[in-house]
Amino acid sequence: MDTIWTTNCTIPRRESLQSHIQTEVAIIGAGLAGILIGYELQKSGKQVVLLEAKQIASGQTSHTTAKITSQHGFVYHHLIKHFGEELARQYAIANEKAITHYRLLIKQEQIDCDFEEKDSYIYSDDMELLQKEFEAVTKLGLPASFVPSTSLPIPAAGAIQFESQAQFHPLKFIKSISECLTIYENTLVLSVEDNLIKTEQGTVRANSIVFATHFPFINFPGMYFTRMHQERSYVLALKHAPKIEGMFLGKGANAYSLRNYKDFLLFGGENHRCGEHIKGGHFDALRQKAKEWFPNSVEISHWSAQDCISVDSVPYIGHYSSKTPNWYVATGFQKWGMTGSMVSALILKDLICGYENSYATIFSPNRFTPSDLLNITKEGGMAVKGLLKRTLQLPEHVIEDLPCGHGEIVLIADEKIGVYKDDNGTVYPVTIRCPHLGCQLEWNPDEKSWDCPCHGSRFDYHGNWISNPAQTNISISSLS
Ligand code: FES
Repeated sequence: MDTIWTTNCTIPRRESLQSHIQTEVAIIGAGLAGILIGYELQKSGKQVVLLEAKQIASGQTSHTTAKITSQHGFVYHHLIKHFGEELARQYAIANEKAITHYRLLIKQEQIDCDFEEKDSYIYSDDMELLQKEFEAVTKLGLPASFVPSTSLPIPAAGAIQFESQAQFHPLKFIKSISECLTIYENTLVLSVEDNLIKTEQGTVRANSIVFATHFPFINFPGMYFTRMHQERSYVLALKHAPKIEGMFLGKGANAYSLRNYKDFLLFGGENHRCGEHIKGGHFDALRQKAKEWFPNSVEISHWSAQDCISVDSVPYIGHYSSKTPNWYVATGFQKWGMTGSMVSALILKDLICGYENSYATIFSPNRFTPSDLLNITKEGGMAVKGLLKRTLQLPEHVIEDLPCGHGEIVLIADEKIGVYKDDNGTVYPVTIRCPHLGCQLEWNPDEKSWDCPCHGSRFDYHGNWISNPAQTNISISSLS
């Protein structure tokens, strides 16, 4: 699925690692977070190497809507309530600084990445919710005002406007700042022990190791699988839609995301937990809304995104665990990977270089209190549900009866098998036990993939791995 970003920007390919090397800092993952962390550390004088399992920015970075904003939905009322005003202010300042840093970097380096200053809006039909959030953002000193209506055709009781936010083309930006970095592509990390990273054809010994892999794939220590799940969302790029002034996000019945890129409107929504699907499909639901509100628009492309959601709505940026002082992590950006990546780069640069950072506390992965642990248990509960889910027993002739273009879980000779039948009648069987921690995978009819409801690993219908925390393919079962 090409996104609007991949159609007009190509990043040159790099070689894979085939030797044994040493460096000061090794970063696993060359998406926006990994690249920005590497860029900031290298600028501070550190020797840096990045390892990427696929290609630079081939994961979620190329699937974003690329809004650079400190307005993260209705998060600030929640932050003040959950963490208190001081820590909530740290979150606000860190994200405002991230915007300023993008602005400066793009100007200083003269990066041609379609960067535009825009105001950002959150709208809702719930006036009480809007009032509470407006009170919170005003208290924190964010650049906010309340507006009674928006320029959108979507009904709302009002909106909160943040001034001087921004949007850009993420791949053009990454292409430029990654030029100076040493990056090995197609280099899957197999294991990490203390200071040693093993890949398929080489090793890296590093003083500091940063995990910037979207979802951390080392289960112990850290146990990120107990405190994060993944959500999917969908985007349509529309032409002949009216120009909207600003970037928008809704909450409630009309929870949609909107921004322009050149002559196109990027219209997103239909969020759901990975592994859960609706009849009729998420893309079609979004298309119906596009038709209702932008009747003259024409779809030119569509794609989906996947985001890591932490239990308390705050990313995990800092030491990977208390047992691994030389390991660092940047993950759980919710749906705000542009600012989350820059916040990670600024915090991890300071931690690794031994500088003070005045807003790192709220993002620390080791921040949990007993009340947070209750939410963590809930996440664990979802995972157990996935592990225990029973397979519906279907008669063996089900494969014959399976319509072309459909996927299904069947029980054949006491073995649970996932099968997909393509339009030519060819059947693709896979095991449906997730290689991460063994949950049962679910068929995703929209994107013809097998998705894990526990922590969000995904696989195509051939069984090839698409996204972590799992790192291997799902083996092909024999039907003979
Ligand atoms: Fe954790 Fe599947 S992603 S069990």
